[in-house]
Amino acid sequence: MKYWGHALMSVQDILIQRIRERGPITVAEFMEIALYHPGLGYYATAAQRSGRAGDFYTSVDVGPLFGELVAEQIAEMWERLRERGATTFDLVEAGAGNGRLARDILDALAAAHRGAYARLRLTLVEASAAARAAQHETLRDHRARIVGSVPDLPSSVRGVILANELLDALPVHLVTMTGAGLREILIGEHDGRLVETEGPPSDPRIAEYLASAGATLERGARAEVGLAACRWIDAAASALAAGFLLLFDYGHEAPQLYSPTHYSGTLAAYRAHTAGAAGWLQDPGSADLTSHVNLTAIRQAAEAAGLTTMGIVDQTYFLIALGLAERIEKGDDLPVIKRRLAARTLMMPGGLGSTMKVMAFGRHTGRGTLRGVAHGRLT
Ligand SMILES: C[S@@+](CC[C@H](N)C(=O)[O-])C[C@H]1O[C@@H](n2cnc3c(N)ncnc32)[C@H](O)[C@@H]1O
Repeated sequence: MKYWGHALMSVQDILIQRIRERGPITVAEFMEIALYHPGLGYYATAAQRSGRAGDFYTSVDVGPLFGELVAEQIAEMWERLRERGATTFDLVEAGAGNGRLARDILDALAAAHRGAYARLRLTLVEASAAARAAQHETLRDHRARIVGSVPDLPSSVRGVILANELLDALPVHLVTMTGAGLREILIGEHDGRLVETEGPPSDPRIAEYLASAGATLERGARAEVGLAACRWIDAAASALAAGFLLLFDYGHEAPQLYSPTHYSGTLAAYRAHTAGAAGWLQDPGSADLTSHVNLTAIRQAAEAAGLTTMGIVDQTYFLIALGLAERIEKGDDLPVIKRRLAARTLMMPGGLGSTMKVMAFGRHTGRGTLRGVAHGRLT
């Protein structure tokens, strides 16, 4: 609850007010308000939501090792653009949270790639004002490299646009296949409670999206449709004048995502590292809402926007190709043990290493792929 305008309002109150005024809303609208309402949304009301005290873990929470290896990939990207005449390198991190990944990357570049570090201009793009406010402190050792901390993508980027677990946090439409064809799950209200209802698809692009992914849903099956993720890819591709788009997220190619394995869909609410017990409709604004990314749709959106796909692999292959194994040291000192545990967490089959996928796209980057995605596969 917060004092908002002239009344004490919660996210639930705002949703109910909107539904009473305009009728049932889509799950995408529900998520937009629950996660991103400027004063009350889940992400708006805290600078950091992941980690032990939070609701979920990302690779960044495992420690600086992830950022160190991403830095190796960024150093190679800088070399590629430098060979093509670049004199500066934009590092744009989208969905940057309070800036911890950017800090880990810059720490590693400053230590091992001074040339890249000196040419780098960092822009942090983050929707949450609370998270943006924390970034300058997180990055206090790298202030000279920061050119922006903003809510929207910059207009022209020559370097890399990077995002870790951004796409899975973007609003999705939820559909179901019925005897009468494709229907959209909508959110209505009954006696002051939020309830699920159904209607025709709210947007013709929903059916187009499923058709171009080759998705055929069984009767009764539910599926998410990530139009916002495709719009974001389009915006990122338009912003990318030359360089790379490097995305880390969990998800599947469309045939797997829309198979009976995911019959009930993948939308889930995370509270204190536990998915779903209370359901994603309960107490909006108090939980992370997330769904698996449709990798096929992301690739199609990137290619339609003129980018070249450089590789899509399990994160384990990316990290190993960039030297994860070489960074594991022997020894009984606590910091060394901690690093070994971090490496194991990042690599563990069934854990972050295989659930997380790395997608790399490029524009005007010359021939050849990138070290991190040149080999490996998707599981
Ligand atoms: C799951 S969190 C990941 C945070 C961080 N990248 C990490 O790995 O720990 C998703 C972040 O993306 C931000 N976000 C969501 N939509 C965004 C958008 N369109 N542009 C920029 N940031 C956005 C959220 O506010 C949140 O901080």
